[in-house]
Amino acid sequence: MEKEIIRIKRIKGELRVPSDKSISHRSVILTSMADGVSTVKNFLKAGDTLTTINVYRKLGVKIEENGGLIKVLGRGLKGFVEPDDVLDMGNSGTTTRLTLGVLAGQEFFSVMTGDGSLRKRPMGRVTQPLRNMNADIDGRNRGSLLPISVRGSKLKGISFFNEKASAQVKSALIIAGMNAEGETVIEEPFKSRDHTEKMLQFMGAPITVSEGDVYRVTIKTTERLNPIDVEVPADPSSAAFFAAAALIVPDSSLILKEVLVNPTRDGFFRKLQEMGADIRYENVREKTGEIVADIHVNYSPHLRGIKVERKDIPSMVDEIPVFAVVATQVEGETVITGASELRVKESDRIKAVVENLRNVGVVVEELEDGMIIKGKQKIKGGYVDSYKDHRIAMAFSILGLISEEGIKIKDADCAYISYPEFFEHLQSVVER
Ligand code: S3P
Repeated sequence: MEKEIIRIKRIKGELRVPSDKSISHRSVILTSMADGVSTVKNFLKAGDTLTTINVYRKLGVKIEENGGLIKVLGRGLKGFVEPDDVLDMGNSGTTTRLTLGVLAGQEFFSVMTGDGSLRKRPMGRVTQPLRNMNADIDGRNRGSLLPISVRGSKLKGISFFNEKASAQVKSALIIAGMNAEGETVIEEPFKSRDHTEKMLQFMGAPITVSEGDVYRVTIKTTERLNPIDVEVPADPSSAAFFAAAALIVPDSSLILKEVLVNPTRDGFFRKLQEMGADIRYENVREKTGEIVADIHVNYSPHLRGIKVERKDIPSMVDEIPVFAVVATQVEGETVITGASELRVKESDRIKAVVENLRNVGVVVEELEDGMIIKGKQKIKGGYVDSYKDHRIAMAFSILGLISEEGIKIKDADCAYISYPEFFEHLQSVVER
């Protein structure tokens, strides 16, 4: 489906964007491994997280839905059942990589595949360390591309340096580590999102973390996980689109309710504050071990260009496309480097952003690991390709709001992967 977004007058109001995707995935995957019944309030119902529910049902987990509440009847750490068919991971990298960690320590054979985008994404970063833990894994390109098969085996703990600071890799190894003999230690040069660690601590797992020169997680062989009741806050990665809109559309003011502001996730908002954005956290509080806030955003006409470097990337990795959109409207230059991970997301997001910015009249320089965006540019408008990547579709919808001739987005319906209500929510806060 193609969608056209045209210039608007302003953004006004309040919005509770859908629940956090990362926490929603973990709320099903980890509670499936508990001994007993867990409940999840405000589970995200979107393409990727529904994939997780489907996959865990195929692995024998009873998951009941009752309105906004999900009940997961955990099967214990090694209690999954052999699926009778290939598992379809759809578009979801998180489901795939975390589930590899689950399956490696079970006592059966399974195969997983995914859509055209997921089948291109690198899985060796998970399958290689899992093999070092003694996992029996095969697949295309020596086990680094889907389809991938896993024959469950007896795992042993390892020490691993998570060079890319990938939360999916870290989480897969933590999960496998629970079913492994001995201790598994994972170190990261920059701390990636820590929802797995937080939730497992909440469930009583023998997991410890320490922060110094590197961030270190240690997990021991785990006997059991306690069931929990989780409430999922709003997703900062989804809130980022609306915050960006309020910042760049004149005379706007918006309150984003109950947003997760865990420091491993709110880098987008902090970087924008550094650029001079009028963004305030109000009513900061804790919800099942995570920090949430209402985020108040006002139009900010005097933003200044800054540098975004490798150390900044993990806490804003999914927000770079919409950050680039804001960067077209600031004074001076914005230089983004250290972001080569963007090349292997749902699309090559560096290429997708650079090409699409050029298509709508923006001058931008592509770097191997980022881009340089000149500020205060006129957005003429035109045609962009989402590459069926949800975050590209939504980022360019926001740019459409300040375009002279409107922006038409190819395959805009892919927004359903993380945010099915995106276009309705946009309608509800715009004034024409
Ligand atoms: C995620 C981790 C990040 C992020 C993805 C979700 C997670 O990926 O981009 O959207 O839930 O663990 P990487 O682990 O590849 O950095």
